[in-house]
Amino acid sequence: MDFVKWATSPWGQSVPIHIAWFLIWVAVIAGLLFLLVHAIYVRYFAKVKEFAGNVSPAVAARIPEQVPRHSLTARIFHWIMAASMFTLLFTAFLPRVGVQFPWVTYHWIAGAVLTVSIIFHIIHASFFMDFWAIWPDRIDLRDAWRRTLRSAGRAEPPPDKFAKYPLENKLYHGAIIAAGLSTIVTGVFMMFRVRTVFFPRNPYLFSDMTWGMMYVLHGLAGVGLIALIMMHVYFGLRPEKRGITKSMIFGWMSRDFYLEEHDPARWPVEASASPSRSQGARTEGLTDAG
Ligand code: HEM
Repeated sequence: MDFVKWATSPWGQSVPIHIAWFLIWVAVIAGLLFLLVHAIYVRYFAKVKEFAGNVSPAVAARIPEQVPRHSLTARIFHWIMAASMFTLLFTAFLPRVGVQFPWVTYHWIAGAVLTVSIIFHIIHASFFMDFWAIWPDRIDLRDAWRRTLRSAGRAEPPPDKFAKYPLENKLYHGAIIAAGLSTIVTGVFMMFRVRTVFFPRNPYLFSDMTWGMMYVLHGLAGVGLIALIMMHVYFGLRPEKRGITKSMIFGWMSRDFYLEEHDPARWPVEASASPSRSQGARTEGLTDAG
């Protein structure tokens, strides 16, 4: 079983040309298995979540009914990225499983939209948002260890409530960065192999071997994204995560959801004008988390 398809170059050299397409099905089945095992675990085996420390009534009283979570800019970015990501996945993989159409043009256009939106996101997250909010911190790592020991039956203290993002979301974001940047960097070079509006076609930019490896990396990261996106959509639809999903549509999460899962000390309520200006007055005096 070969994970890569090989061909012979005009100079007689054996070169990779792309991934073996059965890997698409491996990714789909791996994604489905993950969803199934997770759903069974949550339904039949998972214990009720327990967190350390209760929020004092004085702090709880200062939390508004609607806690701002995603600015309008961040939400627009998310949904543009989602649309381009789905377009890329369908245009890339439908033709490989028998649905034929002129996919390349739609694919590179969606690729260009994704590339521009990611460049925008990096600038926005670095200079206008709390850059460190999405990276694991020491409390996350300590609590991951505690949660593991507790699930093995050891008497460890319960974990703290989450900051803005639970550790799982931070790790997922890391995986998306790795797969997403791999497709983007290789994809931008691969645009030299086809006709686009950006630069003249130049299939001689790299050697056959380098092109081949680039196509393989693009394909591997691409099939990885099939499984990652399936997991993302699944979690977004799960009933216990709906508070988070709704916040990506409306910009805020409910006070109850916030107090149940999040620690106001680790994620202070933003005194933001968006999504609802009226809250600005009510959250006066609370920290602006950027
Ligand atoms: C979700 C992300 C993406 C997935 C799943 C994906 C997947 C794929 C796959 C499977 C192919 C066929 C490659 C082959 O035959 O070996 C392909 C081709 C291509 N991709 Fe992507 N891609 C993604 C993102 C991008 C991005 C961001 C760009 C541009 C910036 C891009 C540009 C291209 C181009 C130009 C080709 C055509 C190459 C050719 O036919 O010679 N892709 N992509």
